[in-house]
Amino acid sequence: VARSHVEVALKHPIKLIANALGSPPADVIAQAHDAGVPVAALAGSATHALRHVENGVDIVVAQGHEAGGHTGEIASMVLVPEVVDAVGRETSVLAAGGIGTGRQVAAALALGASGVWMGSAFLTAAEYDLGVRDSGGVSVVQKALLNATSADTVRRRIYTGKPARLLKSRWTDAWDAPDAPAPLPMPLQNILVSEAHQRMNESTDPTTVAMPVGQIVGRMNAIRPVAEIIAELVSGFEAATKRLDAIAAD
Ligand SMILES: Cc1cc2nc3c(=O)[nH]c(=O)nc-3n(C[C@H](O)[C@H](O)[C@H](O)COP(=O)(O)O)c2cc1C
Repeated sequence: VARSHVEVALKHPIKLIANALGSPPADVIAQAHDAGVPVAALAGSATHALRHVENGVDIVVAQGHEAGGHTGEIASMVLVPEVVDAVGRETSVLAAGGIGTGRQVAAALALGASGVWMGSAFLTAAEYDLGVRDSGGVSVVQKALLNATSADTVRRRIYTGKPARLLKSRWTDAWDAPDAPAPLPMPLQNILVSEAHQRMNESTDPTTVAMPVGQIVGRMNAIRPVAEIIAELVSGFEAATKRLDAIAAD
């Protein structure tokens, strides 16, 4: 199935193919390269990152524990410099996991990354269509995200069978109950729950949603257009680097 997705993607003017959960197969990397498209892959450890480089991946996304979705055990603060040092200067490293402000972008570049890669912060973008919306244009999932603090995520196997960071909800609590069944291995768990997820996310109850999101959810407190999110990242980055320049000049 993934190979057919790649074929469809390459028929469009795409700039990048990115892969989670391991390097893409060698033939997929070759196919992307033949089309002039670079390949990125997510890494939760320096070992993953080195494997990606050996396999021909162009850009490594060093993604820390605090990220939304499938994520490893090592926090971004520790992981990013480890990956940068492991892969060397020829491979670009993007920092991911917990980034949602310009200060965090500056920190990521200070850790040696060439750039950042964000996911969660865009879930509360005005443009993001997460199903049924209320009269104010906010979906039930976005309502749940707006209400959450940085402590309201859990890393569980219940979404896909592999550990993924999710919004804590009555659904994740139910799977944590002592009498709850163990999640099935990938890909069976997602097949088991995806219909239920759809129903919950289209309901009107923000306490029972199923949504991958990272710890940065605590700062996702308003629905805003993407242009505004990016403009604030840029101005926050500039303010942070000015402050650091002033400290360095002292
Ligand atoms: C809802 C959601 C779905 C995601 N799905 C994928 C995916 O299918 N493939 C992938 O490579 N990464 C996926 N990710 C991970 C992102 O690419 C990114 O690495 C991550 O969101 C970065 O951390 P952050 O959430 O703290 O910004 C997903 C993340 C979220 C929040």
